[in-house]
Amino acid sequence: MSETRAFIEDLPKAELHLHLEGTLEPDLKFKLSDRNGIDIPYSSVEEVKASYVFHDLTSFLVGYYDGMSVLIEEQDFYDLAMAYFRKAHSQNIVYAEPFFDPQAHTSRGVPFEAVVTGIHRAQVDAEAELGIKTNLIMCFLRDMSAESAMETLEASLPFRNWIIGVGLDSDERGNPPMKFKDVFARAREEGYHLTMHCDVNQENSVGHIWDAINEIGVERIDHGINSLEDEALIAEIKRRDLALTVCPVSNRYVTGSLTVDEIASMLDKGMRVLINSDDPAYMQAYLNENLVELAEDGNFTREQITQLARNSFLASWTSEEDKGEYLAMVEDYSA
Ligand code: HPA
Ligand code: ZN
Repeated sequence: MSETRAFIEDLPKAELHLHLEGTLEPDLKFKLSDRNGIDIPYSSVEEVKASYVFHDLTSFLVGYYDGMSVLIEEQDFYDLAMAYFRKAHSQNIVYAEPFFDPQAHTSRGVPFEAVVTGIHRAQVDAEAELGIKTNLIMCFLRDMSAESAMETLEASLPFRNWIIGVGLDSDERGNPPMKFKDVFARAREEGYHLTMHCDVNQENSVGHIWDAINEIGVERIDHGINSLEDEALIAEIKRRDLALTVCPVSNRYVTGSLTVDEIASMLDKGMRVLINSDDPAYMQAYLNENLVELAEDGNFTREQITQLARNSFLASWTSEEDKGEYLAMVEDYSA
C-alpha cells in the first residue's frame, strides 16, 4: 500500500456531501428487489453492477432514480443507511451529514414518515454500535416544482428534530437557485441550515453560485468548482468562510477531470474545500478512494490532505464542542 493511502485511511474524517440513495450497492438493490417482489430487468448482482454505467449528470440521474424503485418499506431505508454507516466507519469517517431525497420516494407513494424513520433508526443504531455520529440533510429535487418542495418542507416539520438542514439537488439545467427562494427562506425560518448544489460546468454556474450566496443565504455550496472563474466570488466565499463540498470522482464522470488543479488552487487560496464521495455505489469510490486518487494524481502533501480533513469538520453543522474534539483528533493524528 502506498504511504499516501495508508495516511488517508487512518485519518479521521467527516463526509458532508453524500446522497444516501447513491450508496445503493448492486447486492443490496438485488436483495431488496427480491424482498419486495419488485421486478428489475436483471437476474444477478453482476447484471445490476453492469447496469451502473453513465457518462454525465443526466444519464447518471436516470439510473439513480430508477435504482430507488426497490426502496419501499421503512426497513429498506434502515438497511440502506446502515450499510453506508458501516462502510463509512470502516473508512474512519467519524462524522457525516448525509443527504436524502424524500420526493424521489413520496412521488412513488412511499410515505415521508417511512423514509425518515428508517434512516433515523439507522442513525441511532450506528452511533450506539459504531460510534459514528450523523446529522441528516433533506434535499429538494430542483427539477420538481417549488410548490412540491414547499409541501415537502411542510411534511418534514413533524420530524424537525431529526433533520439538521436542507439542500437542493438533481438536474440543475433550467432549475436555478432562485426558483426555490421562498422555500429556502421558509426553511431558514424553521431553523434549518441551508446548502445547495451548484454543480460543475452548468449553464450560468457562476451566476448560480452568486445567487445561492446573496439571495438564498446558503452556509455551504455543494460542488461550486466554477467559483474559481470569478475573483470577486472567490473573495466573497472567503469573506463568509463558506465551505465547498467537492467530489472529485463524481466530477470526473461529469467533466472528464478529477479537478485536481482546481482543488489544489482552492487550498492555496485558503478556501474551505473538503472532499466527498457524492454517490459512491454508482461512482465506485467511497471517500478514501476519492482522497487517494486526488492526492496521488496531484502529489498532495500530508499537510494538504490534513487540511482537507480539518475543513470537513470545520464546515460541519455539529456542536462547537464536538467540532473541537474532532479537530483535536486530526491534529493528534497528523502530529
Ligand atoms: N448532482 C445532482 N443531483 C444529485 C447528485 C449529483 O451529483 N447525486 C444525487 N443527486
Ligand atoms: Zn451531490
